[in-house]
Amino acid sequence: MVQIIYEPSTRTFHLRNDFFSYIMTILPEERLGQVYFGRRLHHRKDFSHLVEYSALAMAPFRQVDEVSYSQEHQRQEYPVYGASDMRDPACEVLHPNGSRLSDFRYAGYTIAAGKPTLPGLPATYVEDEGEAMTLTITLRDPLDGLKLELLYTVFDQGGILARSVRFVNEGAETLHLTRAMSLSLDLPGADYAFVQFSGQWGRERYKKVRMLEQGIQSVGSLRGQSSHNHNPFLILQRPGTDEQQGECIGLSLVYSGNFLAQAEVSTHDETRVLLGIHPHWFDWALAPGERFQTPEAVMVYTDRGLNHMSQTFHRLYLHRLARGYWRDRPRPILLNNWEATYFDITEDKLLSIAAKAKECGVELFVLDDGWFGGRRHDHAGLGDWVASPDVLPDGITGLAERIEGMGLKFGLWFEPEMVNEDSDLYREHPDWILQTPGRPRTVGRFQHVLDFSRPEVVDRIYEMMAKILSEAKVSYVKWDMNRSITECYSAALPPERQGEVFHRYILGVYDLYERLTNRFPEVLFESCASGGGRFDPGLLYYAPQAWTSDDSDAIERLKIQYGTSYCYPIVSMGTHVSVSPNHQVGRETPLDTRANVAYFGTFGYELDLNRLSDEEQEQVKEQIRFMKTHRALFQFGTFYRLLSPFEGDGRTAWMVVSEDRREAIVGVYKVLNGANVPYSRLVLQGLDPDLCYHDSVDGLDRFGDELMSAGLITTDGSTTFMAAGRACSGDFTSLLYHLTAVDGGRD
Ligand code: DGJ
Repeated sequence: MVQIIYEPSTRTFHLRNDFFSYIMTILPEERLGQVYFGRRLHHRKDFSHLVEYSALAMAPFRQVDEVSYSQEHQRQEYPVYGASDMRDPACEVLHPNGSRLSDFRYAGYTIAAGKPTLPGLPATYVEDEGEAMTLTITLRDPLDGLKLELLYTVFDQGGILARSVRFVNEGAETLHLTRAMSLSLDLPGADYAFVQFSGQWGRERYKKVRMLEQGIQSVGSLRGQSSHNHNPFLILQRPGTDEQQGECIGLSLVYSGNFLAQAEVSTHDETRVLLGIHPHWFDWALAPGERFQTPEAVMVYTDRGLNHMSQTFHRLYLHRLARGYWRDRPRPILLNNWEATYFDITEDKLLSIAAKAKECGVELFVLDDGWFGGRRHDHAGLGDWVASPDVLPDGITGLAERIEGMGLKFGLWFEPEMVNEDSDLYREHPDWILQTPGRPRTVGRFQHVLDFSRPEVVDRIYEMMAKILSEAKVSYVKWDMNRSITECYSAALPPERQGEVFHRYILGVYDLYERLTNRFPEVLFESCASGGGRFDPGLLYYAPQAWTSDDSDAIERLKIQYGTSYCYPIVSMGTHVSVSPNHQVGRETPLDTRANVAYFGTFGYELDLNRLSDEEQEQVKEQIRFMKTHRALFQFGTFYRLLSPFEGDGRTAWMVVSEDRREAIVGVYKVLNGANVPYSRLVLQGLDPDLCYHDSVDGLDRFGDELMSAGLITTDGSTTFMAAGRACSGDFTSLLYHLTAVDGGRD
């Protein structure tokens, strides 16, 4: 049950639900202090004994209310630098006189049921006011009149605290926000591991772990997109915590642009976490009367291990971040033509690929890049969202009708934010790109980034896209974004507002998404940025699924999907079976392993099924039948990570369990085969200990307690594997165990 308690006698706020407590108090000089964040506590009127005051050597301090008080060693809610706090701050304000010093004092609070929306920004939401409570604490700087509203929403279900900050200029002069983090969290001690999800194109969101150390450790993006390099997600994990038990805090930013996620450990071993828009090149002019809303940051606390933390994020992001028609619906099994054809497309070729896909059971055919303007290669055409008659004589309308006539749904690729110099749009508006006057311009994949901070640019792209989506039968849109932003500067903004361009750009992207999803509510949007370059919660608000990576090799995908699952729901991951040898790494893998990995996601194909042998086509038909039967379980079941590809020999295992725990599917994947390997067992999770389950691989009936204690025997070449007709003797092999509760099998 959610409670937000304010104790007037001690001026203490206690936010809690069944999972955690978050406690703040008013410190000397009316500053807002952080007292406790962790396991749920009994409520008491007074927690002041948890606030330590000490005039430690070298700390500048003030003598207030009989205590020696230094901000340097005080845990604060939204700290600033420059008085006596020496660490990286939560915010920084440049004043007309050149000073960057602020002084925020407590000014009041409100408590309300439910959760407010954040105008223009993606955010978690409630459907019923009883699902959450929101505390808004107001701070005010008496000198410049800047008001801060700190928003804290406690959800009823799960250890979730959503936070953001609103700045309101109630003074008489324009102020510049040069840092406005969404969250600051001061914790006592530093006994945590810092877990980040980092990588590159083709190997996104690899899990990296290091112990916190004195000084700053951070990840972030300055690429104008959340990026392949680092995800806007961080875990602080206590030593000894693993997937099944122990304390951890997940911190996730609902934002798709430049971000910073950082932990600073002082030399007194105090930890400060900051999460929000990256302050580099951020400078927002706030005129009198104006307000600035930061993106939302979501914190999840649990003392039940990493799987539990992930499941909490999954439920929240699946049901209270993603929205609309597709939120709770099983996703269509699609075939995307990109790896089948690249730019070499004709209508006949597309129809032949689609016809075979239909015969095999596919539900949605997606036409990828190359259908518009002069786009016969990647040097031309972006920006001209009109079908090219060379490729599609009857336009998108004609092709979509033919595809629908086959009994398939039709989907289409766009890259709305980009333009090629060789395009009509660029010839008409060369000033519509982001570029810095007098400086050389950089291209990425031969393309420029349109200036989405300008409403007229967004309007024009909206018109072109809306025309196609309203004229043709389009059921799905893949929204791609294939380069980072460079030379960030807008011709439409004055010099003193150039620090706003990165953020205004993302607001423009959100605006276009909002308009298109409102006008076409039943179209399924999938986001993509050269694969996983913008796999973030911000975009999940508009597009409930994302192309996880351009690397479609099943073995590579083990790490990518495993890493992605720490924050993001299984149904949000675009997962396709592609050709072998794989186009990105040249690896040959069995067709069943490719499907066994792709089932844990949206599921689809990225190849021309006509080129498979008859036997393989029969296998594909069977895979699609299997996925259709178990789709709801794969996509909406409770997901557990069992064996990590980041440890040991790369063997991976995971499972999904139905809500009633009567059914589960376990995926076990081997990378390289070994000789004379030791025995191995896999201990399962999430089953009902008192239910007896039938196992599809070895045909045995076993109780949940045995499967979750003694485990499954997964030794290569064991009788179990032999019985399944699978000696498991090769590289890249895999097995799926389907467990179903036996009728009357309850103990
Ligand atoms: C990058 C995407 O990730 C691919 O799936 C494909 O859509 C290409 N762009 C098309 O240019």
